[in-house]
Amino acid sequence: MKEIDTKKLINFSINGTPAQAKEGWTVLDTARNMGIHIPTLCHHEAVEPSGACRLCVVEARDGAWSKVVVSCMYPPYEGVEILTDSERVKNVRRWVLEMLLAQCPASREIKALAAEYGVKSTRFRIKNPEEQCMLCGLCVRVCAEVVGVQAISLGSRGVLKHVSTPYMVPNRACIACGSCVTVCPTGAMQARLDKVRGDVSQRTGHGFAH
Ligand code: SF4
Ligand code: FES
Repeated sequence: MKEIDTKKLINFSINGTPAQAKEGWTVLDTARNMGIHIPTLCHHEAVEPSGACRLCVVEARDGAWSKVVVSCMYPPYEGVEILTDSERVKNVRRWVLEMLLAQCPASREIKALAAEYGVKSTRFRIKNPEEQCMLCGLCVRVCAEVVGVQAISLGSRGVLKHVSTPYMVPNRACIACGSCVTVCPTGAMQARLDKVRGDVSQRTGHGFAH
């Protein structure tokens, strides 16, 4: 068994319980290692964190100050106190969920998650009642970083931003592996997959699922 160099461990606390993080771990990594639940949407261990959804917020306290930080990107440091479920944290999560309800009101997954936090409606403007995508970019990152084919990207900017293929036509680079569908937290990618891969049975040459 490999020895852990305890001198390199970072000592802090999560919800009052002593916590130890290895160098390079985030608060989320440490919490998961301790079996402490922090909700996430845009996070996946296989890809670099992007901090897109903000649902994983926690409170970091150090002496007289405290601030809300994104746990999937926040590196703990010696002595910091982390609270994963304080009133302040729950308020920010409810606010994030209201924004997500406005961004992707057609997502059953987001509605169910919001309901868990008592959020049933949103004060924010709903642009498209049919929208399921929260624009977290997880599908794009998995396609590029894990599958290595870059078949999809987040196209356009601002209100026109959307997940698509280059030139919005089926992309032959897509190997129809379905990784994007598997990781999508809102169910949006399932409906988009055919637009990305096209009719796989009609393809020849490389880049094929079969
Ligand atoms: S399709 Fe899914 S994974 Fe991709 S950006 Fe939209 S919500 Fe995120
Ligand atoms: S899970 Fe941390 S910002 Fe989305």
